[in-house]
Amino acid sequence: MLNVIMISPGFPAEMPHFARGLKSVGASVLGIGDQPQAALEPMARASLDAYLQVQNLWDEEAVVRATVERVRGQKIDRVECLWEPGMVLAARLREALGVAGLGVEQTIPFRDKVRMKEVLAAAGVRIPRFARARNAAEVRDAARHCGYPLIIKPVDGAGSADTYTCRSDEELERSLQLVAHVKELTVEEFIEGEEFTFDTICHEGRILFENVGWYRPKPLVARLNDWISPQCIVLRDLEAPHVKKGRELGRSVLAAMGFRSGFTHMEWFYTPKGEAVFGEIGARAPGARLVHMMNYSVDADLFVAWAEAVCHGRITQSTAKKYNAAMIFKRASGSGGKITRIDGLERLLERYGEHICNLELVRVGEARRDYRQVLVGDGWIACRHPDLAFTSEMADAFGSELRIHADGM
Ligand SMILES: Nc1ncnc2c1ncn2[C@@H]1O[C@H](COP(=O)(O)OP(=O)(O)O)[C@@H](O)[C@H]1O
Ligand SMILES: [Mg+2]
Repeated sequence: MLNVIMISPGFPAEMPHFARGLKSVGASVLGIGDQPQAALEPMARASLDAYLQVQNLWDEEAVVRATVERVRGQKIDRVECLWEPGMVLAARLREALGVAGLGVEQTIPFRDKVRMKEVLAAAGVRIPRFARARNAAEVRDAARHCGYPLIIKPVDGAGSADTYTCRSDEELERSLQLVAHVKELTVEEFIEGEEFTFDTICHEGRILFENVGWYRPKPLVARLNDWISPQCIVLRDLEAPHVKKGRELGRSVLAAMGFRSGFTHMEWFYTPKGEAVFGEIGARAPGARLVHMMNYSVDADLFVAWAEAVCHGRITQSTAKKYNAAMIFKRASGSGGKITRIDGLERLLERYGEHICNLELVRVGEARRDYRQVLVGDGWIACRHPDLAFTSEMADAFGSELRIHADGM
């Protein structure tokens, strides 16, 4: 039996599914987290053979010490973490326990967006021009180097937080005030065009499953415009010419980063000139329900497929793409704190009901959510169809015709 350590099996939302995957392929799982065991999601609790509760998951030294102590005399086969803030901790645990997989040196370029781009630039991958900046003067310097339009964002950002597009000196000065609290920034050439994901499950550097998702619109635009219901469509046809360019880019990125086994999540742009340009990559699964959407696109359980890949080096389920699978995140409109009314759902269900695979909305009377904190916002809908145009039509209909109101008094 394989002994696997999994960091934070209870949080965020997808982790209990990955823990379930490990259990279902026969692994013995030791979970490490800062939640009390009794407070874990039932699915996570049911999937663990043992649990080590630590006081502070981010005190890496203390966690490594406590873990080494806990597993003394036991052979550990894998250390897994699919949550971005825990990637370096996982690497340190691997090194401390002599377990194969990414070490600290190899993990840093996945965590630090400047190191990431340095590694990729050295390998000749098409990335946006960029520079690191620690203060306003350095940002202005970097802006001269990059030219407009440009993007400024934190070196270790997430969820498009503190990220701004600047098209002139004036906009740059305005953005500088908004990011005054950010310690370290990168200044980048702004890449026009559509934005996609490239996601894989690998074993020993071989891609066993791959996926491409199409963001509608780009995550930054969705973050800055609260009236938008953001979508992501997991694509059925991975042979479309623009999609193939992204997949090729993805392959060169994985090779340059030296990735071996597990999930990866990359973002890339497709420009109006027909070029695929790198955005960023994580050595982990995507969040925000994207793995669920991949499942809907292939009628398989990729939480289990991931576990089988990392534990046994194969995926035995069929993962052939059958559908385009779209998810739509809803955001309430109005100035109130509570949901007052939901319009348009019945008509949408009549038209598209048979193609809907998930529908989870807030209820009338409940508090509205802050989509900057909770990406799924006030609810998410998943629908699928083999035809991409029809899938986009459904997604757009849910985006514009389903109205969630939080009217003020
Ligand atoms: N160089 C760039 N050109 C165009 N858009 C960008 C660029 N960098 C970031 N963005 C936009 O900002 C979003 C967030 O940036 P990203 O690097 O993905 O950081 P994170 O998702 O970790 O916050 C991207 O999804 C994209 O929409
Ligand atoms: Mg991103």
